[in-house]
Amino acid sequence: MIKTIPFPQKVSAEGGFINAYGAKKIYNLDGSIPTEGYRLSVKEGEIVFSYSDDAGKFYAGVTLDSITVDGKIPVCEIEDAPRFGYRAFMLDSSRHFQSVDEVKCLIKAASMLKLNFFHWHLSDDHGFRFESEKYPLLNEIGSYRDSIGFGSKEEGIYGGYFTKDEIREVVELCNSLHMEVIPAIDIPGHATDLISSYPELCCRDDKVSVGLEAGVMDNILCPGKESVFEFCFNLLGEVAELFPCKYFHIGGDEVPKKNWKKCPECQARIKSEGLKNEEELQGYFTKRIAGYLESIGKTPIVWNDALRSGMLGSDIVVCQWDDPKNKVVDFAKKGGLVISEKTSNNYLDYTYEHLPMKRCYDYDIVPLGTDAKTEENFIGVEAPIWTEWIPNFSRLSFQAFPRLMAVAENGWTLRENKDYDRFKKNVEIYAEHFAKMGIEIAPKEVWDAGLKRSERK
Ligand code: ACM
Ligand code: ZN
Repeated sequence: MIKTIPFPQKVSAEGGFINAYGAKKIYNLDGSIPTEGYRLSVKEGEIVFSYSDDAGKFYAGVTLDSITVDGKIPVCEIEDAPRFGYRAFMLDSSRHFQSVDEVKCLIKAASMLKLNFFHWHLSDDHGFRFESEKYPLLNEIGSYRDSIGFGSKEEGIYGGYFTKDEIREVVELCNSLHMEVIPAIDIPGHATDLISSYPELCCRDDKVSVGLEAGVMDNILCPGKESVFEFCFNLLGEVAELFPCKYFHIGGDEVPKKNWKKCPECQARIKSEGLKNEEELQGYFTKRIAGYLESIGKTPIVWNDALRSGMLGSDIVVCQWDDPKNKVVDFAKKGGLVISEKTSNNYLDYTYEHLPMKRCYDYDIVPLGTDAKTEENFIGVEAPIWTEWIPNFSRLSFQAFPRLMAVAENGWTLRENKDYDRFKKNVEIYAEHFAKMGIEIAPKEVWDAGLKRSERK
């Protein structure tokens, strides 16, 4: 009867509909309702919204829109609030570049699922996507690659970047949808776009070009040089000005230490700072960058690789992606905040054969056996959409939906209220809404094509 995603905490609907037109809308501020939560009461001639904050009022409206069909609303009482305060998707605009309208379309769809953070991956080996006035070569050189094809050379130049005005538009849209935008500049690895523009940023001033192939590149920023820190502070400062969100993602994943081992400046830094090895050099780098971000009022986020030095404190938030043994639990035990986005359950760039929708849905965001106090430090879930193999919006829609709906329900709905069969039926209704927005979701036959026999029920 109440067909909405993510499914609410409490629903009662005993039958009957009211006409949406002409029903009186009553708005109640009620301090006893949790953050982002709401109550929605629909009865003859009257719809009552209760909430304690603007987000709750907004989500009551989102739920109401989703259950209104052809001007009819089911008579119901809904009481709702999210399980987690952080519910996000990540879009990689570097490997393949999207138009600002495509980005906005995705945001609107995510907002219908009550996601409240958009992590925007604007910099990686394959293209820099932020308009920088401080470092114009990042756009002249770093935003373009010498092949239309990715992974195989195809004659032509590919690329572009979002202008500051376009970014402001996106942030404004998100603001109106109670969603915050987290910018991401990946450093010190995954930085070929930066190094191709300013070769002096890497250990040996190597001349490299913006990447054409997927994978991890050896050329990374040199933390032995003071000028690299100056560059990072200036660039991150420029980016931060456009994003009011308190979070700033600085990557830190997949940092090969080969060049640092051979670099006299890196080795001199290790010595002068009393560091044990190159892993600690990454720790030193991250701590200095984090210190800068904190000085301008931001909370840094890193991928879990950056924890390996053992030097990061709980002032930094960690995204758990490649951590099969759940080592982040130790970080959370010491008070660090964790966002869960494991490859095995949340990476929407994976094919449906590798990541069936049920595995997104059934995923337990907090590792089993985590004590209640530590569990509180798991702040939520995020679904990355890496775009190496996603060249256009139709592929993006196919990869993201409906699995992002499963992630959204996982982030919002209480464990005991999850029901995969109900969820799948509701997806069919959302498919119609989404098609009207230009989003064609993956057909039913592929959703669980990769499930093993033992996982089917
Ligand atoms: C990642 O997927 N390299 C965070
Ligand atoms: Zn170096």
